[in-house]
Order: sequence, then structure tokens, then C-alpha cells
Amino acid sequence: MTDTASQGSRPGDDRRPLTNRQGHPVYDNQNQRTVGARGPATLENYQFLEKISHFDRERIPERVVHARGTTSFGYFESYGRWGDEPIDRYTRAKLFQGQGKRTDIALRFSTVIGGRDSAETARDPRGFAIKFYTEDGNWDLVGNNLAVFFIRDAIKFPDVIHALKPDPVTFRQDPNRIFDFMSQTPESMHMLVNLFSPRGIPADYRHMQGFGVNTYKWVNAAGETRLVKYTWMPKQGVRSMTAEDAANIQATDLGHATRDLREAIERGDHPEWELLVQMMSDDEHPELDFDPLDDTKTWPEQEFPPKPVGRIVLDRSVSDQFLENEQISFGTGVLVDGLDFSDDKMLVGRTFSYSDTQRYRVGPNYLQLPVNQARNAEVNTNQRDGLMAYTLDGGAENPHVNYEPSITGGLRETPYATSDDQGPEITGKLTRRRIPRTNDYLQAGQRFRLMQEWERDDLVANFTTMLSQCVRPVQERMVWHLLLVEDELGLRVGEGLGIAPDDVSHLEPLRGQSLTDEDRKRLANLG
Ligand code: HEM
Repeated sequence: MTDTASQGSRPGDDRRPLTNRQGHPVYDNQNQRTVGARGPATLENYQFLEKISHFDRERIPERVVHARGTTSFGYFESYGRWGDEPIDRYTRAKLFQGQGKRTDIALRFSTVIGGRDSAETARDPRGFAIKFYTEDGNWDLVGNNLAVFFIRDAIKFPDVIHALKPDPVTFRQDPNRIFDFMSQTPESMHMLVNLFSPRGIPADYRHMQGFGVNTYKWVNAAGETRLVKYTWMPKQGVRSMTAEDAANIQATDLGHATRDLREAIERGDHPEWELLVQMMSDDEHPELDFDPLDDTKTWPEQEFPPKPVGRIVLDRSVSDQFLENEQISFGTGVLVDGLDFSDDKMLVGRTFSYSDTQRYRVGPNYLQLPVNQARNAEVNTNQRDGLMAYTLDGGAENPHVNYEPSITGGLRETPYATSDDQGPEITGKLTRRRIPRTNDYLQAGQRFRLMQEWERDDLVANFTTMLSQCVRPVQERMVWHLLLVEDELGLRVGEGLGIAPDDVSHLEPLRGQSLTDEDRKRLANLG
């Protein structure tokens, strides 16, 4: 054997031969082609150029949020009921019909703010995104592990994310930037009380809840609509970490949650979650002290009991991180018949944003990739061409007719099974206004009062540590908000920062902020 020859093809070696993507055998994968053993290299060396230039393009842009994540596969099993009632009374979505009916799923868990290789111990919401490969096409339910969100209008999303991401100059996540924004955003208080409690660092992905957060609709066969919210409850229980636990894990492992999930699936300990649905009639509900389309609010469980409709089981991990985790693409617009949007102003913005970013991040034909394909439904479109177009999407029978309508062939529209008219009539003038019932503090205070003593201590300590790194006006405005959330919380955080209620009693409500009578009473008592 010479030093230029391959070492691969020993007699009796039945491994498959290495080739390039043109199908040419690779005879030598160790040495590039050169004039003499010491070079120079020759530029016509197709195999070398092909290998190195493909490598140069191995990365695609990471997700602008939720870059670090892990995907697993399994199934959803329907109970065929919403609590005790037949589910078809409320939705005609086929995946929910019939007890024991199974639908393939992919589930991607993620953190939000860090990059693709960042620590999974961060204090950060966790993504909980599920793709159901149903017979009616795909349904994506793109949720988080915390029940509410920082903002209620999609136009603020780039700002909240910029504030939470590293400083564009120093590239450090900066408490002063975060709380500068949050202190001017009173609707974030409910989310902050959750995020800075122990719930803000889930122990791992198997021991956390999932929430749809936004309000959706269900539609039955008669076209009647109802507002719904989704919750996933882990059969494994809910576990969280303190900042100290997290720091200890992070010292040796940046990916403990992905590892935990993968190892559990490998040893046959398949994690499960039950899907619960809350429901209310499809109207404004003036009797409530919050708006049902406001994603900074939860729906009280006594009035709107969450009822089980099915469960999911995860039984397979990704076979390749890039193909099945990096390229998987979820969106809130991906719904099937029997499920619908509400007018939640976050949901509308999200629905544009997901497929927009995926056309950029993955490419215009991202839906032709196996992990994104509607693999249990027929796909027939007249969409053609574009970067990396791969198949004819079922239009191959008459490839000349890539338009519709046509009397010579091609694809036809699907007739409606029922009327397309549904839901209440809506009228109003075009405007830019907040929703009327903002009530930013009540549920945040209720959440605080539900916490055990150690959880309150942890929340106070976390707020104080973060706020101590902020400038005085930001600290004062945050203490002002926290006093409106709950006396004990505001007083204890204020004490840690050396700020008494007297010091903040001069602060006026923020521009455009609407306060409840209860808020005003609290404000009057500050001095
Ligand atoms: C990912 C936008 C609010 C949950 C993303 C991505 C974008 C985005 C652009 C990256 C998607 C990709 O690259 O494939 C927005 C906008 C929002 C918003 C504009 C507000 C208007 C929310 C809320 C939740 C949420 C309220 C929770 C209910 C997620 C999850 C992912 C994600 C779980 C990761 C999906 C995956 O694993 O691929 N979001 N988002 N987002 N978002 Fe949002």
C-alpha cells in the first residue's frame, strides 16, 4: 500500500463504500490532490472542493428565539371526550374523535433566550411545541411551560426579546436592560412573578407543564365556536430548581435536560403528559375582570375547569439533531378543521412570524422536509420551484397544469363539509388601542399568595439580586409595581434594595396605564 492509497477496502470489509454526492467513489479521504507529495494543490480537485464547501455551509441561521432545543417523537391518544362529555359536541377535529385514537407527534422542548449551545439551566421560559401529524394535515400547538406571557400585543415582541437578549455592545444579558423594559410594561408582572419563582428553572424537560398560553377556538360540526385554552400536565410530576441547584449543574453540564430526556426514552421510561382543555363561550365575557383574549391572564379553574381530552407519550429521540431538531418548524397558523384562531392580538402576530422566519431560516420549501411534511395526509399543491424544491407535491399526474381552475386537469378545490361561516359577528373602527380590561396586578398577586413560604423567599431573593444590578429609577418603578401586586412582595424586595413605599409614592401611573379601583386604593396607601 502506498501512502496515497485508501485504507478502506480491506478484503472481508463489507461496510458500504464512501462516495461523494455525485455517486463517485472516494478512493482517498486523507490526502488532497497535489503536484508531488509537498504540493501545490490543484484546483480541479472536485472531491476536496465539494467536501470543504459543503462543510462551509453546514450551519443555517439558528432560531431567533428558542435556539436551544431537543425533539422527540411519539403519539397522542385521544379519550374521545372532554371530561364526561362526548368531544364532538365541541370540536369536529378528527384527531380527538374516538377513545384510544392515536396520532403521530413530534415534540420540541427548548429554552428561549440563549443560543443553540447555551445552558439548559437558564432562568427562562421553556418552549413546549407539538406537531400532530393528523389525517387532516398537521396541527402545531406551540406553547411554553409558563401559563402566561410578558406582553399581550405582538407589536411588542421584538422589544421584549431585545431586552432579554444580550446587550448589543457588551453581549452580556443585563438585568438593567431587562427591568428597564419590564418596569415600563405593567402587563409583564404576572409573567415575572412566575419566572423569578422556582418555576422559572424547571428541573428538566420531563418534569414541567405545558401551556398553549394564547386563546384558541374549537368548532363543532354545526359551526358553533368556543374559546379554549390548552394545558399539558406531566405524569412525572412538576419539579423545579433553585438558582443554586442550577449553578451546580451548569458547572459540569450545559445540556442536562436534553440528556435526561434522551436517557429516559432509551431506557424505556417513556414520559407522558395529559392534555387538559378549558372552555368558555365565544364572546367578550364582560362579567370577568380580565379579557379572555389576554395572554397575560389565566382562566380561573373553578369557573373554567380544565378537563382531560387525551395524553401524549414520547418513545423515540431524534435520529439526527440537524434533520429532525434544527429543521423542524412549528407555527401557530398550522391548524386543522375543527380548531381555529381567536382574535388574541399575540396569536395573530405569531401566526405571521413563524412561517416568515422559517422561509428565511430553513428555506422556502421547508414543508417538503420529512420532519415537516404532513405525512398522514395527502399533499397536493400548485406551489412550484424555489430553493431546494424537492418533489411535485402530488401534482405529478398532470405536470403541465400547475394552476387552478382548469378544465383540462390538475387539482380541484375540496368542497366544504359544512358552512365556512362561524363565530360571532365583530364590528368596530380601525384603531390602535389597548384592550379595556388590563388588570395587570390582580392575578400576579393571587399567584404570589398561592406560593409556599420557600417559593416566596426564592422569588424575593431572585428579584432583589437582579434589581440590585439596575439603576435607581428602574428599581423604584419595579418596587412600585410589586407593591401594587402584593404588599409583602413589594415591601420585601424594597427592603432588600433600600427603597420604602414612601420613596415611590410620588410615581405617577405609566402613560396609557389603566388602574382598577383596587389598584388606586393601594396607590393611595403607599405614602
Ligand atoms: C419560536 C415568534 C410568542 C412559543 C419562535 C420563533 C419565532 C417566534 C420567530 C422561531 C421559530 C423558528 O425559527 O422556527 C414569536 C412572536 C411572538 C411569540 C412574534 C409574539 C407575538 C410566543 C409565545 C409562546 C411562544 C406567547 C408560548 C406560548 C414559542 C416556541 C418556539 C417559538 C415554543 C420554539 C418552536 C420550536 O421548538 O421550533 N417564536 N413568538 N412564542 N415560540 Fe414564539
